[in-house]
Amino acid sequence: MSLAKPLPHDAARLHVTGQARYVDDIPLPADALHLAFGLSGIARGRITGMDLAAVRAAPGVVMVLTAEDLPFANDVSPSAHDEPLLAMGRVHYLGQPVFAVVADSHLAARRAARLGRIDYAEEVPILTIDRALAANSRFEDGPRIYAKGDAPAAIAAAPHRVEGRFEIGGQEHFYLEGQAALALPQEGGDMVVHSSTQHPTEIQHKVAEALGLPMHGVRVEVRRMGGGFGGKESQGNALAVACAVAASLTGRPCKMRYDRDDDMVITGKRHDFRIDYTAGFDDAGRIAGVGFVQYARCGWAQDLSLPVADRAMLHADNAYLLEHARIESHRLKTNTQSATAFRGFGGPQGMVGIERVMDHIAHYLGRDPLDVRRVNYYAEAAPAAGRNAPAAGRNAPAAGGAGGLSAPPFTSGEHPPEDISGKKIQTTPYGMEVEDFILHAMTDRLTVTGAYDRRRRAVADWNATHPVLKRGLALTPVKFGISFTLTHLNQAGALVHVYQDGSIHLNHGGTEMGQGLFQKVAQVAAARFGLEVGAVKITATDTGKVPNTSATAASSGSDLNGMAVKAACDTIRDRMAAHLAALHQVDALSVRFEGGHVYAGEASYSFAQAAQMAYAARISLSATGFYATPKVEWDRIRGHGRPFFYFAYGAALTEVVIDTLTGETRILRADLLHDAGASLNPALDIGQIEGGYVQGAGWLTMEELVWDQAGRLRTHAPSTYKIPAVSDRPAVFNVALWEESNREETIYRSKAVGEPPFMLGISALMAISDAVSACGPGYPALDAPATPERILAAVQRVRDGL
Ligand code: MTE
Ligand code: MOS
Repeated sequence: MSLAKPLPHDAARLHVTGQARYVDDIPLPADALHLAFGLSGIARGRITGMDLAAVRAAPGVVMVLTAEDLPFANDVSPSAHDEPLLAMGRVHYLGQPVFAVVADSHLAARRAARLGRIDYAEEVPILTIDRALAANSRFEDGPRIYAKGDAPAAIAAAPHRVEGRFEIGGQEHFYLEGQAALALPQEGGDMVVHSSTQHPTEIQHKVAEALGLPMHGVRVEVRRMGGGFGGKESQGNALAVACAVAASLTGRPCKMRYDRDDDMVITGKRHDFRIDYTAGFDDAGRIAGVGFVQYARCGWAQDLSLPVADRAMLHADNAYLLEHARIESHRLKTNTQSATAFRGFGGPQGMVGIERVMDHIAHYLGRDPLDVRRVNYYAEAAPAAGRNAPAAGRNAPAAGGAGGLSAPPFTSGEHPPEDISGKKIQTTPYGMEVEDFILHAMTDRLTVTGAYDRRRRAVADWNATHPVLKRGLALTPVKFGISFTLTHLNQAGALVHVYQDGSIHLNHGGTEMGQGLFQKVAQVAAARFGLEVGAVKITATDTGKVPNTSATAASSGSDLNGMAVKAACDTIRDRMAAHLAALHQVDALSVRFEGGHVYAGEASYSFAQAAQMAYAARISLSATGFYATPKVEWDRIRGHGRPFFYFAYGAALTEVVIDTLTGETRILRADLLHDAGASLNPALDIGQIEGGYVQGAGWLTMEELVWDQAGRLRTHAPSTYKIPAVSDRPAVFNVALWEESNREETIYRSKAVGEPPFMLGISALMAISDAVSACGPGYPALDAPATPERILAAVQRVRDGL
């Protein structure tokens, strides 16, 4: 059974008419107060003195808080308890909150916050990867290493070899709604918090710690965010905790929202990375061995950096079977904002690393990069079976071992090379079997729909005759692992009520940030009862209704909450069915819920009648549901196991033009083919794919974060930080879904779609690299983002044949 429906976002009308309510729109009680942080003006040093007299005397100020004034825990870290809400003696980045002003208006609080005078004994900040390495400033004792086979030996023995260094910039989330929280004090010291957060349970937990309360004393509610993109997994903690503490000390409601500049200066961003690589390969470009050293600039506190860096390692293979791979990861501590989750969670950085290697190998061999990619692909899942199986040919998984599978002997001692049936087993560098690979067939389709060969020739013709404007084309694949790598987070709960009139109240642990989760899950609930989605009331996420939730993250929102809601609905449905079955002397399994009706033998009732009957018979019409993802188990220290339930796939073909005089670029056309399994909602999924691609291309081509020598973020507003605008959308933008069921038992066999399409944007960077390559014999070795300056420098390198 499928429930796919291209319904619009449940709040689409509210969004576009301005009626959707965000934290800042919640009507405030008359005596509400507003907060603002006073920020560190230096990146590293000791606080030697603080004069806040002018702050206290400023108009409207009710209270000023420093670290000493906090009643209980001074910590807003999601992980290592290394992140004080307000600085304690030392400051670690320029923009770190040092004190908090509580005033009678938002503006009064912000104005007063600027009047603080802080004296420091300044120290030289560690801002760059090089400085952090020199100072051995890092999280964890040393690098983490995942290895399969013997990469150094394989590289040494290979006929050819490339090596290089690739610098990859970070990214500001630029959610439209900035961080915000509102704390409402309750009787007996309890607290209710409204927060713009992807992780209500974390807010509850941190607020409880800060107030010295058990978690039951705090309730957190989230109706929606105006975008999160990972930036609201942990970065909302500071505002919520500050508001809760101030609310508890004053007994008055307290609200805080960051102005855009403050938001950019205070909060963490995507980790920038440096990746050093060495690859050995044969004449066809098939990789014999590859080594990556990944350096992640994590900022001052640990936050989510360890799992982010892990996920970068776990995507260093992307779509390619690597028999000999070594991935070394350094998590560097710097005096900058604490880098955090951002769509893809490190995966994009790891993935763009091997895509760069593919590009480099192709250039070295003078081959089409797509040929090099395909020769390295994992083998297709079900050998040459199924309607989407690739035609026999170069890359088809012919019987007896396909593509890379026939290559070097298996050396990882963890898995046998064959299972008992004699089937070859292909594994990732971390020992997970790849059973669901579908990119051969997807690539086949995309090269046809995107006219790859014809356009490849057209681009070559264009470049032969146009000295200034150069075109480039690239097709890149995505294989992204779905599940939290911290295995215990793969769980979810739901609460469903059916009222006597047949209307349904739906609640679950997921949060809505624009991705359409609530609509998808409501579709699941409606389908279980055979109703239209309008029968289901979508309600705000609430820690008092569903407890102990995971962040809505890792793209797993609909996988987890969809299943939990299904379980809750089925419990109620089974009770209703059992009652009607007894009444009509039929088998409970034969009772059907369809088209707004319930059928039991010859009898038929409207769903509302059936609900009323169950109520009258004193049958509970309320249930919880729970789901835990099966099959996942992962040892992050050894780097071995099955961290992911399954993989989501995609492929993108991008064509760009560059101006070799100015370095400007434009995306002319993008063709995307993305695997959302049996989509729950094709309209929402296509929206995710379009948005993900544009955000990914923005990361790699135009969004640039610049810190000066003092550690001041110079790109702290839209005036200096360029995100893609509507005009940057490709003029020709073809997006298609790969309609094939997930082979794993996910909700209606759909696949997670939130993050994977972000990495389709990698094709834009590789297309620019292709265009630059047309300028001369050298390899562009383009760093990201490929800004006009970097493109001009690359054009020069290529012309010089470097
Ligand atoms: N789409 C919109 N419109 N806004 C967002 O903030 N966040 C992304 C993705 N798509 C985001 C989005 C990120 S980082 C994740 S992890 C997923 O949505 C989370 O939602 P899901 O698990 O329901 O897909
Ligand atoms: Mo998404 S980075 O997992 O919030």
